[in-house]
Parts: sequence; C-alpha cells; structure tokens
Amino acid sequence: MKNKSFASDNNSGVHPDILQSIIEANKGDAVGYGDDKYTKKAIKKFKEIFGEDTDVYFVFTGTGANIIGLKSITNTFNSIICAETAHINVDECGAPEIFTGCKLLPIPTKDGKINVEKIKCHIHDIGFEHHSQPKVVSITNTTELGTLYSCEEIKKISNYVHANNMYLHMDGARISNASASLKKGLKEITKDAGVDVLSFGGTKNGMMYGEAVLFFNKKLSENTKYFRKQSSQLCSKMRFISAQFIKFFENDLWLKNATHSNKMAKLLEEKLKDIPEITITQKVESNSVFAIIPQKYIKKLQEKYFFYMWDENKSEVRWMTSYDTEEKDIDNFVSAIKNIIA
Ligand SMILES: Cc1ncc(COP(=O)(O)O)c(C=O)c1O
Repeated sequence: MKNKSFASDNNSGVHPDILQSIIEANKGDAVGYGDDKYTKKAIKKFKEIFGEDTDVYFVFTGTGANIIGLKSITNTFNSIICAETAHINVDECGAPEIFTGCKLLPIPTKDGKINVEKIKCHIHDIGFEHHSQPKVVSITNTTELGTLYSCEEIKKISNYVHANNMYLHMDGARISNASASLKKGLKEITKDAGVDVLSFGGTKNGMMYGEAVLFFNKKLSENTKYFRKQSSQLCSKMRFISAQFIKFFENDLWLKNATHSNKMAKLLEEKLKDIPEITITQKVESNSVFAIIPQKYIKKLQEKYFFYMWDENKSEVRWMTSYDTEEKDIDNFVSAIKNIIA
C-alpha cells in the first residue's frame, strides 16, 4: 500500500519492540502448547493486572477469543444478547452461533451501545422450554462504532445481568483503546465493573497476532481448555503469542500505542471539522472516525487511500487510525480530501 491505510488497525504492521520479542523468543526449544517460560510469565502478568484468581487462555484471533469465551458460559439452548452492530453478530460468519449453538438476540443501536432498557426486552419466558433462554449479554468496548462504555454504564448492565442469573461478556478487541480513552485501568473497566469474561485484544494494538480470553470466575472456565482445542485456537508454539504479550505490557507499551492511536483519530476529527461536505456521525472516543461524505468523492479518495465504506445507503465511511499512524499521514489524508472536493 502506497499511502497509510485508514481502513483498519488490522492493516498496520507489528510494533518493532513486539517483533523483537518474537525474535528473542526464537532462541532454542521450548515445550509446546503453553508449558513454557514465556507463557508462564505472560499469564503471571495478566494475573498481576487483573487479580490472582483470573484464568487466562491465549488464542490466535479475536473471533476465536469470543467464541471460546461464549461457549464456556452457555449451553446450546441459551441466547446471547448483543448490539446489532456487534462483531459477533455481523462479522464472524456465524461462528458464535455455530460454536455455541446459541441464538443471538441483536438489539438495534445508533451508537453501537446497548443498555438495561434495551436488554430487558429480551428477558421473558424464563423457564419456558419453547424459547431460547437468555444467558449472556455481550458488549464491545470500544464499540464497533468507536464509541465508549463508561464504567458506570458497564456496572448498570452487569448489575442487571447478574440479578437475572446471566453473565456479562465483553469483546475487548480494543480494550486498550477503551482504557486509554477512559483514563482508567484495565481491571477497573472490566472485572471491577462486573465483566465475567473478557476477550482481551492484542492484534489491533501492535501485536502480530494473539488475544487472550480472561475469566474472572474460575468456575466459568472449567471446560475452556477443551473448547480452545476444539476450535483450533490452541497454539502449539504458544511462546510466540506469550512473548508478545510480555512486551505488550512492558513499559506500558499497550497504553502508549492505544493513546497514540486515539489521539490520531481526534486529530483527524479536528482537521475534518472545517470541511462542510463532511459530517461526522459518531462521537470520536477511540481510534475511528465515522463520516458521511458525498459518494462522488469516495471512489476518488479510495484510489489514493485504502478505507472501507461503512454504510453504502448513507454514504458513510469508517476511517481508522492505528498505533503507527503519524501526524503527517493525517495531514496528507486531509489534504487529499480537500483536493478532491475542491
Ligand atoms: C470488535 C472486534 N471484535 C472481534 C474482532 C475479531 O478479530 P479477528 O479478526 O482477529 O477474528 C474484531 C476484528 O476486527 C473486532 O473489530
């Protein structure tokens, strides 16, 4: 790609320090499937951050993390309530339904977020054998629309969920961006806010690949190791995921990356504000900018820059920044937009 991509943080390369951690872990042999010193150290680090009673499972992908987390806390007759924009609902090719056997109950949302009022609509016919039984609410932070749940909002949902004998799953593919934006710790915005199971993202914040599924109640993960293997997410050379996570947490690299990525989205928003042809459609609270821009300009811009159309009907696009987006990339991108519009 010639110009910096604004399509997704997935398009960035690997952070040099993380790449170095892979090279360093490449010395000699190590026992496979997680019984190695890197994995032990990475798990210890997760426990330091989230508490000793946290159960940690490394996986390759975000989809893998979601389906393993959800499978561990559901039965095939359950349902999972989520936003209609949730990655598990629209972008995982039905994997959550196939792997868990559960029905997904998507809730319409304008900003990617759901709340207790909306969730309540699905809580009925409990114990009635003709209906799927709601067992999990899944929320994403930051959301697929780049918006944020505050701690208070999460707590309200978790209190309701637990009062109804259900669990709260969080898709944290971009949990680092959420933590950086909220200026609150990783534990504070997850476990302390009542999240039971967290898909913890690494790939979108500078790693080559690798995510973790975290359980804050060990009773929930009694069978997780089997589900991880069944879903092909048990990495034989696990040290290469673990070594990345060790570096990810060293000197707060995760926070620096996420803070920078968020800052670049804010900068982009700032610079777009004085272009009357562009309407920003979502609050810019993390590392994406959603905008409506006349159709006639989009193709031309896409000839120079790679980014996705978000909603063809509305002529809405998504522009994403990343840990390695530079100020000059934003300047060049905005200049390109202005030139096309002029
Ligand atoms: C919010 C969210 N969850 C989960 C995923 C899944 O990640 P993967 O593509 O690694 O399966 C993504 C990927 O973009 C995502 O944006």
